[in-house]
Amino acid sequence: MRRKLVAGNWKMNGTRASLAELDGIAAAAAAAPGVDVSVAVPFTLIDAAAARVPALAVGAEDVHEADSGAHTGCVSAAMVKEAGARFTIAGHSERRADQHETSHDAWAKAAAAHRNGLDVILCCGETEAERDAGRAERVVQAQIEKSVPDNATGDWFTLAYEPRWAIGTGRTPTLDEIAAIHAIARAKLRHMVGDAADGIRILYGGSVVGSNAGAILRCENVDGALVGGASLTAAKFVPIIEAAA
Ligand code: G3P
Repeated sequence: MRRKLVAGNWKMNGTRASLAELDGIAAAAAAAPGVDVSVAVPFTLIDAAAARVPALAVGAEDVHEADSGAHTGCVSAAMVKEAGARFTIAGHSERRADQHETSHDAWAKAAAAHRNGLDVILCCGETEAERDAGRAERVVQAQIEKSVPDNATGDWFTLAYEPRWAIGTGRTPTLDEIAAIHAIARAKLRHMVGDAADGIRILYGGSVVGSNAGAILRCENVDGALVGGASLTAAKFVPIIEAAA
């Protein structure tokens, strides 16, 4: 039985003043003991966020694949772990698009995170052109094939399906389309890691808000949500946590 996970991703948003939002989010998490709640925040906020809401799992949005070295401007898994992060996102589509990260990069980052004791939320998802061309399923399968470590288990690894065209747009796939990709992702995981696939959570991400969360979270093989814009305030994030409870 997989517990639902509702994870926020603040992206490049938030200053210390924004951390007050975490108080309401932590309270909602405490009121929903059957749901795991986590929030990935910018590097600059990890230590303060982790200290402010110790009961909430605070994470990073990215880590470097190396543990240390001459990589100006980069941050390692060991560094975010020391700052208080319990997990990191890897392979988010915005990093694939903006920083030209590949599935292999995502794999290496996931491996570095695991090596340093962090949990991982690894993202996959097709572009609008790929979906329109009928290639969504094949694209997601290929991304999983190349980016999921072969020692992945639900103890530390979570997959997130985030169609790029649904991110920040207010558009979402139909429930059938979500269920279809999640079923394919589960089958691909099973092919790669065997029975361990049953314990790996698969989140849906892309324009999840309070009003659509309940229906999305009830789709087969949807084990939670990865939430961007609606995770920035307690007012918008708490209804999603409640929908998962
Ligand atoms: O990682 C979360 C994400 O990319 C979805 O963003 O703003 O559409 O919820 P948003």
